Amino acid sequence: MRIIRIFDTTLRDGEQSPGASMNVQEKLTLAKQLAKLGVDIIEAGFAFSSPGDFEAIKIIGSEVEGPIICSLARAKEEDIQRAWEALKDAPKRRIHTFHSTSDIHLKYQFRVSREDALKRSVEMVKLARSLVEDVEFSPMDATRTDINYLCEVVEAVIEAGASTVNIPDTVGYSIPVEFGAMIKAIHDRVKNINEAVISVHCHNDLGLAVANSLSAVLNGAGQIECTINGIGERAGNCSMEEVVMALRTRRDLFHADTRINTEEIIRGSRLVTKITGISVQPNKAIVGANAFAHESGIHQDGLLKEKSTYEIIRPESIGLYSTKLVLGKHSGRHAFKTRLKELGYVLTDEELNKTFERFKRLADQKKDIFDEDIEALISEDVTKVPEVYSLVDLYIVSGLNQKPTAAVKLKVGENIIDRLEHGDGPVDATYKAIASITNTKSRLLKFEVKGITGGTDALGEVIVSLEEEGRTVRGHGADTDIIVASAKAYINALNKLEARRR
Ligand code: KIV
Ligand code: ZN
Repeated sequence: MRIIRIFDTTLRDGEQSPGASMNVQEKLTLAKQLAKLGVDIIEAGFAFSSPGDFEAIKIIGSEVEGPIICSLARAKEEDIQRAWEALKDAPKRRIHTFHSTSDIHLKYQFRVSREDALKRSVEMVKLARSLVEDVEFSPMDATRTDINYLCEVVEAVIEAGASTVNIPDTVGYSIPVEFGAMIKAIHDRVKNINEAVISVHCHNDLGLAVANSLSAVLNGAGQIECTINGIGERAGNCSMEEVVMALRTRRDLFHADTRINTEEIIRGSRLVTKITGISVQPNKAIVGANAFAHESGIHQDGLLKEKSTYEIIRPESIGLYSTKLVLGKHSGRHAFKTRLKELGYVLTDEELNKTFERFKRLADQKKDIFDEDIEALISEDVTKVPEVYSLVDLYIVSGLNQKPTAAVKLKVGENIIDRLEHGDGPVDATYKAIASITNTKSRLLKFEVKGITGGTDALGEVIVSLEEEGRTVRGHGADTDIIVASAKAYINALNKLEARRR
């Protein structure tokens, strides 16, 4: 069985999804989850592009054990030096450098000849190799590059020391037969190809990123670049969960597998949604809410008789266990701790005390506590920032023929401030009161409410995005009362803006 390497670029290309920017802490949290998933390489960012990316790569390199940590770098000296500075404390490190090779890019964007592009690529691979052992090179826009020239570039960069050559379908233009044939041509025609791993990096503009990556595997690719939930530039990248589960489910056909611990998939997917605020569509393969929901009576009948009649993947294999009623108001600290452990969370005593307190408060409001409720409690910690503002009290008047009114009391530093406002609805009134207390000039870009579990007593989760002076932040809030959850989400985002300002 061939092992296909998984190169995760959620923190780099994934972050290029509109509105998906992550702060250093969020990137570190996600990188730890990627390590639990067992990815082979984490592309932690593009060191030269911003101080935030530089810092994230540095911290991930020194704190996350297991995967190789990688920084992207254009084929420029200053980029490669910066990547090296960010990576030097990482025990396992890689520099990924790239240069366009298609005539369209060379002529219109970079205004350089094919010869100059080749020469620069070789020089920069050599420079990267003088700093690190492990160098990857990408001929950008490979799928629109003349195949003879592409093979020439690939051979030259391997000769210069690249141990991985990545073939990007940068604009998501290729289709599976054609992309597979391109990988085969590289495999057959490049003399020194056995000295490097062929990687693929497919974008999803035609909805074919996963299919193209799988076709590449059938034709000799040994590494797939992908992102959790398929997030990424424009229509996104190859989705990790889909490509990994396709290989696992059809090992018989691919004779290949990955090292991914698939039971961590659903947790990884939810974490990405939580951090980026980008939800997956319900019918998304593997991680969508309906991916394992069988509606048809005929299917349900078959499933009851024998699961394999209509189920090709066991939900448990991606970490999805049927919602269990776990705890309630009378559950003790020990039962809570045990359940957390079963769900994969190991907390320090102090963290456990705090979470248990919140659990007890929730159990007072909600009779049955499900696994998803516990995960929501835990994930509040992921999005926590120092609190300049905190909610002390909220009183709402709303209903048919009522003027929606909110009385909000916030703790601002050491002071308690309250305001009463009217609005188009209770959330609008609440947000007006909070905006008036905090004097925020931010703009609300997104407001999303969803129920975490079923039932009218379900926890409601609210995600908001705020923009202020070009900075965008996301806030989360969860509560059995969706107006309180909305207030918490807004306050969480305002605290993030404060933290960034400071
Ligand atoms: O899509 C692309 O071509 C890229 C490269 C930097 C590999 O993201
Ligand atoms: Zn890309």
